[in-house]
Amino acid sequence: MGPLQIKDILQTAPENQSVVVKGWVRTKRESKNAIFIALNDGSTINNIQAVAEPGQFSAELLLTVTTGSCLKVTGQLIASQGAGQTVEVKISDIEVYGTADPEEYPLQPKKHSLEFLREIAHLRPRTNTFSAILRIRHALAFAVHQYFNDKGFFYLHTPVITASDAEGAGEMFRVTTLDLNNLPRTDEGAINFKEDFFGREANLTVSGQLEGELGAMALSKIYTFGPTFRAENSNTTRHLAEFWMIEPEMAFFELEDNMDLAEDFVKKVITYALINCKDDLNFLQNRLTEEEKSKPQNERSLPLLEKLAFVVDNPFERLTYTEAIDILLKSKPHKEGKFQFPVGWGIDLSSEHERYLVEKHFKKPVILTNYPREIKSFYMKLDEDGKTVRAMDVLFPGIGEIIGGSQREESYEKLLGRVKEIGIDPENLWWYLETRKFGTAPHSGFGLGFERLVQFVTGMGNIRDVIPFPRYPKSAEF
Ligand code: 4AD
Ligand code: MG
Repeated sequence: MGPLQIKDILQTAPENQSVVVKGWVRTKRESKNAIFIALNDGSTINNIQAVAEPGQFSAELLLTVTTGSCLKVTGQLIASQGAGQTVEVKISDIEVYGTADPEEYPLQPKKHSLEFLREIAHLRPRTNTFSAILRIRHALAFAVHQYFNDKGFFYLHTPVITASDAEGAGEMFRVTTLDLNNLPRTDEGAINFKEDFFGREANLTVSGQLEGELGAMALSKIYTFGPTFRAENSNTTRHLAEFWMIEPEMAFFELEDNMDLAEDFVKKVITYALINCKDDLNFLQNRLTEEEKSKPQNERSLPLLEKLAFVVDNPFERLTYTEAIDILLKSKPHKEGKFQFPVGWGIDLSSEHERYLVEKHFKKPVILTNYPREIKSFYMKLDEDGKTVRAMDVLFPGIGEIIGGSQREESYEKLLGRVKEIGIDPENLWWYLETRKFGTAPHSGFGLGFERLVQFVTGMGNIRDVIPFPRYPKSAEF
């Protein structure tokens, strides 16, 4: 089943055992009495130290043992004198699998900027920061599946290629099989997309929700977890053109149940990371503390682990959009004209408003509900007043919106009205509308942006640094 990994060796292997360690060289240090090689294989943030005696290996071989090279080291585990490690490997043999010419290898043992690392997305997982992020990302994904499985949800695989615009926002990437040099035309001369994929338009999905609703109307509780795409040209630290979304959808859930689930869910997956990713979180916490040293004491944020524990331990604040607008209207930045975007009932809250509520006013995560119908999607259930819908957004410190969800409109007539109102051809959504015709039921769901969750848990400032290969306007070519 392959060799022992460094994580297992450091945790369980007894002293004096013979071991074979395979990994990439992080550093090599030569002193009068010994040569120290720090090896890492990505199984843990911790390196294993391998020690050779001077003269044990030829100078020629040692010259090829440089940062980034890949080695197989055979030796014996012995107690270590080094700080922060219990064992090290006394080397008996070194095999160099692959060299990494120091003149060319871009990752040297020093701090590289995140911008620089983005340019070398193919190598950045070999840094401590990115390997920690990727391990935490994995742990969170695992926790998501575990959470829903334990709660009786079924994982539904929704299509990536779809004809529908689930959010009705027109931010789709078009998929086409048409020959762009020889486009089919209608009699009027327009491009005839009806001759496209399956004889209809095709896009990359913006959300699995509509198909998820079909699943919930049969299996009661489902969730999706897949890539979604938004062709929005937003160059922010919170947006990607390709991101992963988790979308649970539940029959017989009202908005309150939906909020309870969302809150419990994020708390449980963050708790999973707190328990299972201690070393990586500690590393990232130290990294952030280091970064913040230049700031005055009162401007520094809570240490990462405290911030996470706080979110897990305290109830989220719940209020309506209308109440939130009142708070914003009474706020200091509004009175002093400091908000970039003006506040008033009916506005789509911008991230400065969301962050004021979360970071300055309540100082904890907030769930806002009952937004004006005009600024929310067509599928949300209308409130009795006819002005607002049963929407909910979960807002997090440092992030803003992390979850968007709602109770869905279950009335066929009302939904059809909304579809027409926003200019969608009901023909394109006949299959969705049929769920309201045949055995409709109250139901709710939400979408959690997975990268925003990873961003929150890792404390990373830019969403481009929490996905292995970020897609954004002018992204690197990987
Ligand atoms: O609020 P959104 O657009 O909601 C939906 O797509 C619904 N269909 C979800 C549902 O009810 N099933 O997106 C949901 C979440 C946002 O709260 C945000 O966390 C994330 O997805 N998100 C993005 N993350 C990264 N880059 C982008 N461009 C994102 N757009 C949305
Ligand atoms: Mg939203």
